[in-house]
Amino acid sequence: MRSKLVVGNWKMHGTRESCSSLILALKQGLDGVPEGVEIGIAPPSVYLPLAAKLCADTRIQTGAQNASQFEQGAYTGEVACGMLADLGADFVIVGHSERRALFGESDAVVAEKFAAVQAASLQPILCVGETLEQRKEGITADVVMAQLAAVLERVGVAAFENAVIAYEPVWAIGTGEKASPEQAQEVHALLRSDLAKQDKEIAAAIQILYGGSVKESNSAELIAQPDIDGGLVGGASLEAEQFLAICTNADN
Ligand code: 13P
Repeated sequence: MRSKLVVGNWKMHGTRESCSSLILALKQGLDGVPEGVEIGIAPPSVYLPLAAKLCADTRIQTGAQNASQFEQGAYTGEVACGMLADLGADFVIVGHSERRALFGESDAVVAEKFAAVQAASLQPILCVGETLEQRKEGITADVVMAQLAAVLERVGVAAFENAVIAYEPVWAIGTGEKASPEQAQEVHALLRSDLAKQDKEIAAAIQILYGGSVKESNSAELIAQPDIDGGLVGGASLEAEQFLAICTNADN
């Protein structure tokens, strides 16, 4: 049985003070979240040491939103996976649609980053998802399977034993327009069956999260779908009460 996982992607929000108070509020409400639900937060990487320290004695895992595909060297402005591990990261989000669209990350670069995250003994959360145009064209399945295939070709299916996938339809991110539970389930099932062609056990065990306008009000019905194992939450993860409610709703 797969456990449920809810991860907050804080994106580029917050200050040292607001990050601390958000974590303290999460810690205060943590007892209300059923034991079986796994929880992660990905603050801006500069606040990762602070978050890792504040979460050290809790069940909240901490991670980064992005990392370099390179191990070290003359890559001005980049942060290596080993450095994130050194700061206390447990996981790294790779291939978020904002990275793909705004910073030009290709499938090949995302695959390199996935490999780099694992090489640093961290867990990758691989994001895939189609744009509105692609959905309208009816090529959602082709798009998400190509995004997954690029990583599979680079690292092999065994690497997915310690990885998470997040399906985030681009048109649902930050728009308030979420995918319906049925629309999301269809893509989650497709991703799982695609993996199953290569390894049934890994496919059955991998957590596949849904992301895109997840809120307290819609999280239960989304996460109740058979192939949806939790959420990758943006905006609603910046409010402790909302995020804790989503975590609690994941237990179904
Ligand atoms: P929102 O929950 O704000 O739509 O963002 C989703 C997301 O991009 C999480 O990675």
